[in-house]
Amino acid sequence: MLLTVLSWFCSSLLLLLQAASGGKLPEAEVKVEVMHRPFLCHRKSKYGDMLLVHHDGYFENGTVFHSSRDQAGDSGAVWFTLGIKEVIKGWDKGLQGMCSGEKRKLVIPPALAYGKEGKGLPH
Ligand SMILES: *[C@@H]1O[C@H](CO)[C@@H](O)[C@H](O)[C@H]1NC(C)=O
Repeated sequence: MLLTVLSWFCSSLLLLLQAASGGKLPEAEVKVEVMHRPFLCHRKSKYGDMLLVHHDGYFENGTVFHSSRDQAGDSGAVWFTLGIKEVIKGWDKGLQGMCSGEKRKLVIPPALAYGKEGKGLPH
């Protein structure tokens, strides 16, 4: 819990520093489309929550590069902690406020994913 709070604190500090350095480039945004929202939603995801997600990854041309449902059953689903950069930035941004059982489509620019080169850390 302490780690989560610290990480959140650090990332907001980072944002402040970027703003102060005068960069006028608009920050790359994640486009979020809700495909399915469950009828009952007791609680929405927030920073520090552990989420178990299924995900299918597509390139812009529609080619699938990853599917967590490749194997039979749920074995491909992944656990991650929201907001601590355990995953690509696009997920940390795009999977907030999500209900259990909700389905979303995220359109993530390279800067919030694996970078233009398709590997390594996002800048
Ligand atoms: C789709 O895009 C990816 C990444 O740019 C590329 O590797 C793949 O070959 C493309 N597929 C088709 C059918 O154009």
